[in-house]
Amino acid sequence: MFKSRILGAGHYVPERIVTNEELSQMMDTNNEWIVERTGIQERRWYTPGVDTVTNMSAKASRMAMERAKISPEEIDFIVFATITSDYFLPGAGVLLQRELGLTSIGALDIRNACSGFIYALSVADQFIKTGMYKKILVVGAEIQSSALDKSDEGRSSAVIFADGAGAVILGQSHSDQHGIMSTHLHADGSHAEELYCIAPSSSGKVRISQEMIDRGDFFLKMNGNAVFKHAVVRFMEVIKEALDHNGVTKEEIDLLVPHQANLRISQYIQQKLQLPDEKVFNNIMYLGNTTAGTIPIALSQAWEQGRLKEGDLVCLAAFGSGFAWASALLRW
Ligand SMILES: CC(C)(COP(=O)(O)OP(=O)(O)OC[C@H]1O[C@@H](n2cnc3c(N)ncnc32)[C@H](O)[C@@H]1OP(=O)(O)O)[C@@H](O)C(=O)NCCC(=O)NCCS
Repeated sequence: MFKSRILGAGHYVPERIVTNEELSQMMDTNNEWIVERTGIQERRWYTPGVDTVTNMSAKASRMAMERAKISPEEIDFIVFATITSDYFLPGAGVLLQRELGLTSIGALDIRNACSGFIYALSVADQFIKTGMYKKILVVGAEIQSSALDKSDEGRSSAVIFADGAGAVILGQSHSDQHGIMSTHLHADGSHAEELYCIAPSSSGKVRISQEMIDRGDFFLKMNGNAVFKHAVVRFMEVIKEALDHNGVTKEEIDLLVPHQANLRISQYIQQKLQLPDEKVFNNIMYLGNTTAGTIPIALSQAWEQGRLKEGDLVCLAAFGSGFAWASALLRW
């Protein structure tokens, strides 16, 4: 059995910055409310005709490959977490494969929303452990802003979600001191409709109709209170599960990288775990919630900022639509 290790991380976010001020011109909201409830000051939204999930993820992937010091030809497999692929089908993985000029390697899509990246990392980890693949490109990328209802009705989610891409290269670890120690995946589909998007749906009469557009079936719908309540419980559970499984304590964590759902959720977890600020990575203040993109973007930025050092104990945790939640514990 091999152990897997993150060899490099990269990210890309669209150039367009959307401030709270700009949002308050579109809907009945204001900077104070958004900052107080979510911690978000600004976020990035794509520019139609410029940014796509494919080209953003390709940029993030190239950065990850450069930092991992590997060439595209060394990649054996792609695992792509997104719920906002450029096409309804085929999935995002094959489009990224084409964009990177790679031929015939497998490409797998994962649709677990905010927990998608940890699910993807877990799948890639199993392939490396068995020796089936040596180097896997694991990606989380989304364009959510096109699914946001920017009227007063959609304001609770419109202020939260954003666009961006992150990627890591997962490879074999040649030392016991580095690598993924465990991953933990959970879901409870009984809450599917607390955070969901109805259309395009394959089980309606047609997949797209004017009626569906008029009804707002293409918009992301969220019961913010329900999401919040479940998130704080599940985040804590799944982090504890990872720590207990590996026989380590919360004090040993060097960096907690939570999915950037909402700053208040991250602060709640930080407080419960009694972690000092320097042990928790947050970038939601200026990037918003990019669903499957948040954790790989955060890893890339944390590495750039020198907050990930060789041998550091890093805990990743996520919660979101499904509900689905997950964690991973690793030595950087
Ligand atoms: C969405 C969220 C910020 C809303 O905050 P909240 O404190 O729960 O607020 P409520 O939904 O109870 O709404 C309080 C009031 O603010 C209003 N409101 C909602 N969005 C608003 C906005 N963007 N601007 C101003 N007012 C807003 C509501 O209409 C409500 O008004 P009312 O009291 O007159 O009815 C919060 O529920 C949350 O963070 N949920 C988790 C979301 C999340 O993490 N999603 C990602 C999951 S991966």
